[in-house]
Parts: sequence; C-alpha cells; structure tokens
Amino acid sequence: MPPSNTAAWVTVPKAYPFTVKEAEYTPPSKGEVVVRVHAVALNPVDYARQELGNDLFSWTKYPAVFGSDVAGEIVEVGSGATSRFGVGDRIIGLALGLGSNRPADGAFQKYVILTEIAMAHIPPGLSYEQAAVIPLGLSTAASALFQNDLLDLALPTIPRRPENGKTVLIWSGASSVGVNAIQLAVAAGYDVISTASPRNFTLVKEMGASQVFDYNSRTIVADIVAAFKNKESVGAFAIGPTSSGPVFEIISQIQGKKTVILANGPPKDVPTGLEAKWVFGSSLLDTDVGPAIFGDYLPKALANGTFTAAPAAEIIGNGLESIQNGLNILKKGVSAKKLVVLL
Ligand SMILES: NC(=O)c1ccc[n+]([C@@H]2O[C@H](COP(=O)([O-])OP(=O)(O)OC[C@H]3O[C@@H](n4cnc5c(N)ncnc54)[C@H](OP(=O)(O)O)[C@@H]3O)[C@@H](O)[C@H]2O)c1
Repeated sequence: MPPSNTAAWVTVPKAYPFTVKEAEYTPPSKGEVVVRVHAVALNPVDYARQELGNDLFSWTKYPAVFGSDVAGEIVEVGSGATSRFGVGDRIIGLALGLGSNRPADGAFQKYVILTEIAMAHIPPGLSYEQAAVIPLGLSTAASALFQNDLLDLALPTIPRRPENGKTVLIWSGASSVGVNAIQLAVAAGYDVISTASPRNFTLVKEMGASQVFDYNSRTIVADIVAAFKNKESVGAFAIGPTSSGPVFEIISQIQGKKTVILANGPPKDVPTGLEAKWVFGSSLLDTDVGPAIFGDYLPKALANGTFTAAPAAEIIGNGLESIQNGLNILKKGVSAKKLVVLL
C-alpha cells in the first residue's frame, strides 16, 4: 500500500484559499525520487499564480498543486536510475510542477516527485527549514548569471575562483534571489556591487558584495555609476518589479557589457544599445548549468560552509493549511527572510 498523500490544491484558476485534501501518491520514474516533504518555502510566484490565474503562465492546468521549494527525506527512488541519491537521504530540491503541469510535481504536498538534476544533499547540521530557502532563489540566480544565453559568467568553483577584476551589478541583494546571486558570483571570481535597504547592508556584505547602496536614495543611479569608475562591468541582474528603470540607466552609463537580466519580465522600455532578457527560474536545468550547480557546486559548498542557506527562514506555520496564511503575509512584503511551512 502506498502512503496516503495530501496536497494544498488550487482547484480552478484564481481559487482562494487552497483546498487541502487527498492527492495521489505517484511512484517515481527513472531519474526521479519521491520525497516526504518536511519543509516548504514560499515564493512570490505562488501568490501571483493564485491571484492572476492563467493571466500568468497561461499553460497551467487545474486542479494544480503549486510550490517550488522543498526540503525533505527520500522515500522512494525511481527504478533503473543511476541515482546519486538513496532512500533516507536528506535533500533539497526544486519542484517542477510549474513547467510539467503535473500535480505530483508541486511542492505543496506531503509526498512530492523531484527530479535528480534539481536536487542536492543537505549536510548534517543544516535544518530542513533553513535548507528549504535555497532551491528557487539559487536556480533563478544561477540561470541568470551562468547560462550562455544570459549573463554567461564563469561558473563558481570550490574553493572560489580568484578575483578576475570584473564587476557585476546585482540589484536587490537582500532578496532571496539576490543573496544567492551574490554568493554565486563571488565564488565565480566576480566583484559584486549591490543594493538593499540600509538595515540589510551587513547581510549583503556578508554574502560577499564589495559595495552596497540604498535603492531608495535619490542619488542611487549616480552613486552606482561612480562606484563603477575604473571597473569593467559584465552586466547586471535586476531583481524586483521596479528594478529595471534604474538598472537600465546605470548600465547605459558605464563601461562594459550592455546586458541586463530581469527577474521580473518581460523587458520593456529597453534603451537603445542595451540588451535585456527575462530569466525563467528553472531554465538552468535544460543546460549544463543545472548539473554544474545542483550536482557539482551546491552540495560541496554547503557541506564545507562556503555557501550559506540564505536568507534566514521564518517558520510561519505547521501543515498544509498554513500555506495560505503564509502567502498572504508574503504578499505584504518581507525583508531578508524566507517564509517556511513545516509539514
Ligand atoms: N524569473 C523568475 O523565474 C523568478 C524566480 C524567483 C523570483 N522572481 C521574482 O524576483 C523577485 C524577488 O523574488 P524573491 O523571492 O527574491 O523575493 P523576496 O526575497 O521576497 O524579496 C524581498 C526583498 O526585496 C527587496 N525589495 C523590496 N522592494 C524593493 C525595491 N523597490 N527595490 C529593490 N529591492 C526591493 C527587499 O529588500 P530590503 O529588505 O533590503 O529592502 C526584500 O528583502 C520577485 O519579484 C519574484 O517574483 C522571479
């Protein structure tokens, strides 16, 4: 008898609140595992999908199970798999229901299917709740920075690459995507200039940024342009809905690569001479960047402490019933933290 499964369902487009009810237990195929989920982290895309229905990601079929960030324990491994994972392993993974349209692949359930290429072991000493903050922030950051159709930076290494004298602008460094992007870029040998609210300057510097500026300052564009004097820019990663305007202005005015990757798209009002592209957070899995980050870099960097699971997790509740309330809180805005629900 397979274990009984439960999910937080979105039964029809824009359904509110989630309906918590039974879900099928789906056995894993080759290259997949089933994970007993212990913690899920909440992302802006979760409330955006619920609110906008098929105005966002028009391909979504209903009933659907949302959610991307999983930490848990493997209970079954797909047969015939040449798996680097076994039953009982503690892992994190990026749940891929948004792309696959299969309810079994959404994070917000007790037993989820994960794909091995989007998973990594959790080292001893790192809790499920803190590990759960990583997957979507990391994969979005890595896609933007390292895919050869996006910023095309050199990949991170362990130990970190020596400084290469090139600088990348990462706007919104205290966001979940931002803290991952800064750490990855620094491990890849780049100097990072970033922005945040002043209360988060220390965090952003701890992540590895050499300079951080208040994005609410009236002189932010001029300040960052001045900070780039005598530096070679390799482009920018603009995180957050209001980031593209100032980032376009800055990149237009400084020397170096004229590419801006946007976490919030699609690009519009792009100045002449600049290239702007939207990143899709799981696109690294279709490229060599996926295995390089989830397979080679992340597990070792987490285990030896050179990569930090950030931002700090805040447990917002226990059980699938708590997810709706967590998303309502997330929608009001958080600062340098990730809301997590324990299951
Ligand atoms: N394209 C994709 O696949 C993809 C994937 C993931 C996320 N995203 C998008 O990327 C954005 C960030 O996601 P997230 O999960 O990292 O969000 P998050 O952690 O919830 O973002 C919160 C942070 O955003 C910062 N922030 C708020 N207003 C800002 C502003 N006007 N300018 C700059 N920073 C601001 C805050 O920094 P301070 O506290 O320092 O003020 C706060 O710490 C969201 O809009 C999300 O929808 C896109």
